[in-house]
Amino acid sequence: MADNKPIGIFDSGYGGLTVFRSIFKELPDYDYVYIGDTARAPYGNRSFQTIHQYTWECVQWLFKQGCPLVILACNTASAKALRNIQQIDLKNEDPAKRVLGVIRPTAQVIGNYTQTQEIGVLGTKGTVQSESYKIEIGNFFPGVKVFQQACPLWVPLIENGEYDKPGANYFVKQYLDQVLAQSTNIDTLLLACTHYPLIQQKIMEYLPKNIQVVSQGDIVAKSLADYLQRHPEMETSISRNKTQQFFTTTDDTADFDHYAELFFSAAVKSSYADINNC
Ligand code: DGL
Repeated sequence: MADNKPIGIFDSGYGGLTVFRSIFKELPDYDYVYIGDTARAPYGNRSFQTIHQYTWECVQWLFKQGCPLVILACNTASAKALRNIQQIDLKNEDPAKRVLGVIRPTAQVIGNYTQTQEIGVLGTKGTVQSESYKIEIGNFFPGVKVFQQACPLWVPLIENGEYDKPGANYFVKQYLDQVLAQSTNIDTLLLACTHYPLIQQKIMEYLPKNIQVVSQGDIVAKSLADYLQRHPEMETSISRNKTQQFFTTTDDTADFDHYAELFFSAAVKSSYADINNC
């Protein structure tokens, strides 16, 4: 579609589909293009430079598909690449385009969920090391204490379809024990990785009933709706034909479609994206 101006949604793999699912529910009229960089996922343990390079390559690919606006539906990319993209890359590429992340919209509201003013943040090593959540939540809710826990094995377990097997239980419990050992007063656990909603049920089974688990999809979707309302120049530049296109950087699209359906809660038919040749 030559005049298609979709909203672009990016993740290192499948996780961003949990955010896309909420965005599509909230804003069903727009066109969307999703790309999962499954060939190079997971990003979580990679260096700042690599995460920035991979993310920017995918964002540029989305721009070439006509997207005026791209959502990084990935905490790791939001933590490690977003600032450079917003402050440097976009200025050189096309200052009219916009790239938004998932950390700020989440930090903006997460303090409203806690009674005890203590939150546990579960994320990839990259997200935790960046301290982005501590900094952003501190800006919006200075009284809230943030305890972080990296869960480096969760994304590989999820990306490889092992997350619902009994072997996964050990690693789910291990990281939960580690975050709860940091304070007995935590009453809210934030799933600060877009892959983790797939193990939300399992996580809840290991937690005391007084601890709530918050995932980001609906938060990010509401924040995007609000953003589009406040930016009519962007809102009117996005096309509205209710189309969804899915792309993966792995050439085995059937494999992508199989797992993607679990994350998106609907059938997915993807195409291969050759991001180095577009
Ligand atoms: N889904 C990504 C996030 O929200 C992480 C996945 C990865 O490690 O690649 O952080």
